[in-house]
Amino acid sequence: MTRTFLAIELPDVARAALTRERDALAREFPAIRWVNPASIHLTLAFLGEIDGEALQAATDAAQEAARTARPFSLAITGLGSFGSLRAPRVVWAGVTGEVAALQRLQATLVDALARRGFPREERPFSPHLTLARVKERLDAVTLDRLRAHIEAAATKRYATWRPEALHVMKSELLRGGARYTSLATEPFGG
Ligand code: 2AM
Repeated sequence: MTRTFLAIELPDVARAALTRERDALAREFPAIRWVNPASIHLTLAFLGEIDGEALQAATDAAQEAARTARPFSLAITGLGSFGSLRAPRVVWAGVTGEVAALQRLQATLVDALARRGFPREERPFSPHLTLARVKERLDAVTLDRLRAHIEAAATKRYATWRPEALHVMKSELLRGGARYTSLATEPFGG
């Protein structure tokens, strides 16, 4: 079984810009577990643990969706969080730019997956780049500082890039954190 998701990877310059922000945040908020910068990616669909046959079907769906996608440009802008302001669950960097094209690709992918028997995710697609998953309870002072930091970065532009491919990704949950590996690269057509 393979824990699988479909994602867009970041080019080195975008990763470097986010790594600087992630490192600054990690210095400022050492109580939070910040992600390994090498593993930052943009997830379009999460499939969970699937067998070899389903992995092949997911790869076919990724290929079908990627082929129909024209290249588009994305930017990484601002920070945000999921969860309440009192208890953020995820701290993320925002995805802006040609988001409509990204949404179309994601919808095409979800349709291609559904035709192959994968259940549809109920929640709407909310593109983001996870910088931290907050598991620990934070005190009120830390929460205030974190909120202020996120608000201050609202319009900060980290990078722009043109994604060129969709990746079939494997996730391994190790003691030191998750390790992600690209199993297949499906280039955009158009
Ligand atoms: P996240 O970054 O918001 O946590 C690998 O786990 C990737 O799949 C992550 O980008 C993660 O999003 C995403 N994902 C989406 N739904 C998930 C789920 N139910 N469990 C784990 N990861 C999920």
